[in-house]
Amino acid sequence: MGQTVDEAALDILFREARTHTKWQPRPVSDDLLRDLYELLKWGPTSANAEPARFVFLRSKDSKERLRPALAPLNVDKTMTAPVTVIVAYDLKFYEHLPELFPQNPGMAKLFESSPDMVETTAKRNSSLQGAYLIMAARALGLDCGPMSGFDHGKVDEEFFAAGKPCFGCDQEFFPEGHVKANFLCNLGYGDPSSLHPRLARLPFNEACSLL
Ligand SMILES: Cc1cc2nc3c(=O)[nH]c(=O)nc-3n(C[C@H](O)[C@H](O)[C@H](O)COP(=O)(O)O)c2cc1C
Repeated sequence: MGQTVDEAALDILFREARTHTKWQPRPVSDDLLRDLYELLKWGPTSANAEPARFVFLRSKDSKERLRPALAPLNVDKTMTAPVTVIVAYDLKFYEHLPELFPQNPGMAKLFESSPDMVETTAKRNSSLQGAYLIMAARALGLDCGPMSGFDHGKVDEEFFAAGKPCFGCDQEFFPEGHVKANFLCNLGYGDPSSLHPRLARLPFNEACSLL
């Protein structure tokens, strides 16, 4: 490929993009959420396993189901956001490998017999996919507010436990409690007037080594 994106794109994706906590009263359509997934799905994952699962909470009812799990400081920003995504991971992701990674038929069996490897792979790659979600959202004009301040047990119980419906999903595709929350991310159009000055970032020589 060898091409670079232009300066405006770099600003949108990185330099000017901020973490938002206050939202304009502008809705986010389901079509845009579909476009978001269609973009983020191309981000690389190990063995192309794509362990992340995304639950988009758009309705008041679904937000209320999340409310008891939120850290107090995250309640208002989440309840007022047009959409909150639960970025989760499926510990049975390897069941899809025959379709997603057909060139290595032994891979699914390898995971099946290695719970530690399953967990490490699911957490690492769902975190990456969550980051792809943030960057894809920015590329589509959305703002994000990622959050780790919530009770994982409560979210897993409410949204992913056995026999409970996955609100907003076309079908109950998380039936056995093998899906776990990784982090939450509010989505919408942020209110720039509420932003604080941007925090510092580590300089190259403190974060990087050239060996
Ligand atoms: C994984 C993750 C978890 C975060 N958790 C919270 C949180 O629970 N509550 C919150 O207010 N901000 C949370 N943040 C926001 C960060 O503090 C924020 O992204 C960071 O300070 C950079 O801000 P900036 O994007 O405006 O430069 C989280 C961010 C990430 C990526």
